[in-house]
Amino acid sequence: MSQSEVVYLNGEYPLKSQATLSILDRGFLFGDGVYELIPIHHKKIFYMEDHFLRLKKSLELINVDPIIIDNIDFEKIINSLIDSNGFTNHFIYIHISRGVDKSRNHIYQKNCEPTILVMGENYQPFSREIIEEGKVAILEDDYRWLKSNIKSTSLLANVLIKNKASDNDAYEALLIRDGFLTEGSASNVFIVKDNIIKTPILSNKLLPGITRKFLTDLIGKYNYDFSECEISKKDVLDSDEIFCSSSTNPVVPIIKIDKKLISKKAGALTMKLYSHAQDYIKDLHT
Ligand code: PDD
Repeated sequence: MSQSEVVYLNGEYPLKSQATLSILDRGFLFGDGVYELIPIHHKKIFYMEDHFLRLKKSLELINVDPIIIDNIDFEKIINSLIDSNGFTNHFIYIHISRGVDKSRNHIYQKNCEPTILVMGENYQPFSREIIEEGKVAILEDDYRWLKSNIKSTSLLANVLIKNKASDNDAYEALLIRDGFLTEGSASNVFIVKDNIIKTPILSNKLLPGITRKFLTDLIGKYNYDFSECEISKKDVLDSDEIFCSSSTNPVVPIIKIDKKLISKKAGALTMKLYSHAQDYIKDLHT
């Protein structure tokens, strides 16, 4: 973080190092809020409409009026952060909590004013060499709640699971609920079997990833065989290729799960999709 980096917080632009929140903010006390992570490529906001649609849906699902998304000019705020902070290829987080309450009470005041934070993060996506090598994953029971379609800031289960993966030198944990794949702790998951790219059907058990949408758009454009379907734990372990998708890294090949080797390096179809995604992003430059 540069000393002069600014963020947007409730209508103001304080320094990131000095922005503060009330201890009665429900986001802090209860994880009572939602968020979005939006990539900025060459100063352009990636898949903006889809990100804001999902944010509105998340707000609706936690009973916060999504009208705030229409009433606040987020595009202007993001562009202002891009200009003031010199962002080129960054990631923008929008965090919206239900707001500051009168006291710590599970039952919220209906008239809470939502707390709105917009800030940048500068992750370095993996290089092509790292992508070609592939990453390791673990399997974990999906013990999260049954509203994983909400991009909620209540992420304790995801945090614990991702740290278990990290402690086992793995990039990601692939989550299994009732014998079937849902997603990763911070990504969606695709498998390839007999040249068909497959991913779990959207439901309340997984996040409708915007990168998942981006990749399915590319899959359609390049005419690859594709199926949204139930994927069992056995299907995962019998896959020819596996990859994870998220805004920070659109395609991350998984070559090993626990002790089971899937492929020696990133699979051919996975690398094709990786290249299509990279080309699409490069074209945003023009
Ligand atoms: N996470 N599933 C979960 C549980 C996620 O946390 C994410 C993204 C995704 C992929 O969504 P998208 O393609 O829209 O990024 C799926 C990001 C990395 C985060 O929360 O920081």
